[in-house]
Amino acid sequence: MVYLDNNATTPLDPQVIQKMTWFVQEHFGNPSSLYPIGRRVKELMTEAREQVASALGAHRSEIIFTGSGTEADNFAILGVLDAVPDKKEFITSAIEHPAVLETARYLERKGYTVHYVPVDQYGVIDLEFLRSVISEATALVSIMMANNEIGTIQPIEEVVKIARRYGVLVHTDAVQSFGKMEINVEKLGVDLLTVSSHKIYGPKGVGALYIRKGTPIRPFVHGGHQEFGLRAGTENTVGIIGFGEAARILKERWKKDKERLEKLAEKLKSGIEQRITGIKFNGHPEKRIKTTLNFAFPGLEAEAILLALATKEIYVSTGSACSEESEEASHVLLAIGLKPEIARSAIRMSLGRFNTEEDVEIVLKELPEIVARLREISPFHPEM
Ligand SMILES: Cc1ncc(COP(=O)(O)O)c(C=O)c1O
Repeated sequence: MVYLDNNATTPLDPQVIQKMTWFVQEHFGNPSSLYPIGRRVKELMTEAREQVASALGAHRSEIIFTGSGTEADNFAILGVLDAVPDKKEFITSAIEHPAVLETARYLERKGYTVHYVPVDQYGVIDLEFLRSVISEATALVSIMMANNEIGTIQPIEEVVKIARRYGVLVHTDAVQSFGKMEINVEKLGVDLLTVSSHKIYGPKGVGALYIRKGTPIRPFVHGGHQEFGLRAGTENTVGIIGFGEAARILKERWKKDKERLEKLAEKLKSGIEQRITGIKFNGHPEKRIKTTLNFAFPGLEAEAILLALATKEIYVSTGSACSEESEEASHVLLAIGLKPEIARSAIRMSLGRFNTEEDVEIVLKELPEIVARLREISPFHPEM
């Protein structure tokens, strides 16, 4: 199998499996219980919180575990807006993940004014637009650090500078940047930041929200006192322990992984460009998570390419995993100016820790053959 869909999810790291297995075998206590078997679980959770915090340059008291990256995004936006009820405007970008975009639509239905910052042909946000719509009435700006479909990296530090002039809080969805570029919440200056465990070789169903000390935010799930009273419910202890271990490993090896994987991705990218004509690369040439490769194959349907690759046990995606089942063209590709029919011809390949040179060689052999075969039977003429 050649797994090239690491932006959708990543396989568990064997060390994470080991830690989680040990944990479920040895520890069933409720972290809220005061006797030793509960206390021990609480200690292990604190260690995991420390591990996630440390990978982000944060303090562990600023990390709230959630049930997913999606929940952390919802919590950041709705929790802050709830805490600043006088401010009725929210700013985000046109190319956010649905976790943010659908929350923005919900806010519109609730009567909020939402401004969607447009992006250029590479997917970089228009800072002039941001400057023109931000005001003291803005409660929060939420702009993703790197895009999940095309990898484009946003100028978050600039966003923070602009927001500060108006005393506006900033959230960033760093789900796709965690482990792929440096993230330090102090350097970035953001108030809230989302990460997700299953994109860093940890288990699914656990995420975290970094909340800078002093940030106004209301509880998201009401009930017990868990997660500093902000997210009630008995914790997903095994998920949290796994996430902590994944973050610990990430901190140790992400730079080395990045170096190796970027070389591998570049080899794949240039190999595809040399072997297949009439294709379009989507994303910023430089300011991009380099392990994300998004190509449009005008004249073909992305799904046909995906399925043909799957018969060879090569797994890629069309757009993002979240829009996979919809017939609609990717909102990200439309926002960077692609025509719907071109957007529907795009596939995303995303590399991760377990990819090898051999994987790249296999794709470089199979993909050109598949594209040539599909082009022969395609009723459309390739045109951009
Ligand atoms: C940018 C971005 N934000 C949020 C999410 C959602 O994370 P989760 O799957 O943990 O809900 C994803 C997952 O694809 C993502 O890519």
